[in-house]
Amino acid sequence: MDYSLPQILSSYSGAQDELIPILQAVQDELGYLPEEAMSKVADFCRVPASKVFGIASFYAQFRFLPLGRTQITICRGTACHVRGAPEILSEVKRQLGVEEGQTTPDLEYSLETVACIGCCALAPCLTVNGRVESSMTSKKVKQLFAREEEDAS
Ligand code: FES
Repeated sequence: MDYSLPQILSSYSGAQDELIPILQAVQDELGYLPEEAMSKVADFCRVPASKVFGIASFYAQFRFLPLGRTQITICRGTACHVRGAPEILSEVKRQLGVEEGQTTPDLEYSLETVACIGCCALAPCLTVNGRVESSMTSKKVKQLFAREEEDAS
């Protein structure tokens, strides 16, 4: 991690209004915001680490754990929304025990939502590591995770 952080910081002056762009750049590079990196960003911008943690916690875009091995992406676009995407999202959250933008503690799954997956005719949709699962229902979500568990064992 350390090898890329000085390189990222070298593009900035350390002004406080650069905090969010710096955190975005760190996350783009590392995939998440490790505590050590946030402390170094705080030193660089000459602000308390608690301020950096506070900002990072406020914005849903920031992650504090690496992405999981299995990336679940749920479409929240209009076509999917009117055909039940909110229930699908609720069921996935229930199954995984995480909110959007979070990763399960075992680093198996990450959950995020997107504006459109591009297969609106098959709504509601989600993807599992890029593979589209279409015409989803709560029951199909349960079956999907049962299948994923079987594949993993
Ligand atoms: S709106 Fe969901 S795939 Fe387009």
